[in-house]
Parts: sequence; C-alpha cells; structure tokens
Amino acid sequence: MRKTSRIIAILAIAMFTATSAMAIGPGNPKKGKYLFKKNCKQCHVAGAEGGELTPLSKTMSQWKRFFERDQHKAKPEVWGKYKEKDLNDIFQFLYDHAADSDQPETCG
Ligand code: HEC
Repeated sequence: MRKTSRIIAILAIAMFTATSAMAIGPGNPKKGKYLFKKNCKQCHVAGAEGGELTPLSKTMSQWKRFFERDQHKAKPEVWGKYKEKDLNDIFQFLYDHAADSDQPETCG
C-alpha cells in the first residue's frame, strides 16, 4: 500500500516535469523561417524593442535551452500567442542555422 502511493507520487512528479518543459522535436525549418520573419522580426530587428535577432545570435544548444527552458521569459506573454507546433518549426529553423551549425545563416 505504501509502495503504491510512492509510485503514484513519482508518476505525478514525472508528469508535471514533462508538461512544464516544452517538448522540442523535429520541426519544419522552411515553415519556421517564414514564421520567424512574420512573427518574431517585428520586435527583433535592429532598433526594435527586442533587439536584432538572427539564427546566428545563439549556438545550437543555446537555442535548445531557450525554447525548452527560457520560453521567452523576457516577455512571457509573447510565447502564449503561438501554437506549440509553430514554435517547434521556428526552433528548427534557428537551430539548423545557429552560429555553430553546419549552415550558419545571418538573415532570418
Ligand atoms: C512584442 C515584441 C516581441 C515579439 C513578437 C517577440 N519578441 Fe523576443 N524579445 C522581446 C523583448 C522585449 C525581449 C527582451 C530584450 C532584452 O532583454 O533586451 C526579447 C528577448 C528575446 C530573446 C532573448 C535574447 C537574448 O539576448 O538572449 C530571444 C531569443 C527572443 N526574444 C526570441 C524571440 C522569438 C523566437 C520570437 C518569435 C517566436 C520572439 N522573440 C518574438 C520582444 C519580442
């Protein structure tokens, strides 16, 4: 009986951890590029409130961390506007062309 409740507690913790971190999986980088331009560039060009941002602004592991953990803490309300699938595609585009990727890309 005590064992069962311990297992339930562990399962509950595992489920909570799984939902609080976004699952980043393979996305569509072409769609991601389009979505990045359409949704992120409005605040992320030189002189705009978010500052200039391109795939080169971060390394692959930094992008992964940003999407999985940070989730746009600087302005959390921004993240809530996007579908998880779209964020996944944007992630894939940024990740594929990150500073330390095979094909670094400055334009976004
Ligand atoms: C409504 C404006 C707005 C939109 C839209 C927006 N951002 Fe931001 N973003 C900001 C602001 C403001 C900051 C904080 C900048 C600072 O701290 O100087 C920020 C910070 C960031 C940072 C951290 C920059 C760093 O130096 O580490 C990243 C990465 C980022 N945004 C990515 C995105 C992505 C990807 C999208 C599109 C899915 C997006 N942002 C859409 C306003 C925006």
